[in-house]
Amino acid sequence: MKVSEATEPIASLIAQATAVRERAHAPFSKFKVGAALETRDGRVYVGCNVENSSYGLSICAERVALFKAISEGEREFTRIAVIADTPAGSPVRPCGACRQVISDLMGSHGEVVMTNLHGDLETALVSELLPAPFDRSYL
Ligand code: THU
Repeated sequence: MKVSEATEPIASLIAQATAVRERAHAPFSKFKVGAALETRDGRVYVGCNVENSSYGLSICAERVALFKAISEGEREFTRIAVIADTPAGSPVRPCGACRQVISDLMGSHGEVVMTNLHGDLETALVSELLPAPFDRSYL
């Protein structure tokens, strides 16, 4: 579907992800990503990707948003929106590392809202993006 058809809470989350995407520090890939994370009681934490000249130390927008929220004491999340400039018809999908972190911190029922600058919108449950995760039950 298109972003223009989204419900108000989702549209608002996408707007905040779009705004923070402009703050991305992506001098190496030039691929800017924004994320906005909604808590169960309606607060929003945003994040952008932050790259490093030692490339492997770069961190994705989704994890920045999640770690900011956790460090502020938040523990319950409903959905996360992510946006990047991907090709038309193909909203950005979280990488594998972010799927693991999202699954651990949001749980399998969380909602992932994937978009791009063309207004393409796809939503999925965390459990659809990462079925059969490694989780705390093993520890
Ligand atoms: N990136 C994200 O921030 N989130 C994603 O879902 C995919 C990839 C970042 C990491 C890196 O800074 C750049 O995009 C290119 O991979």
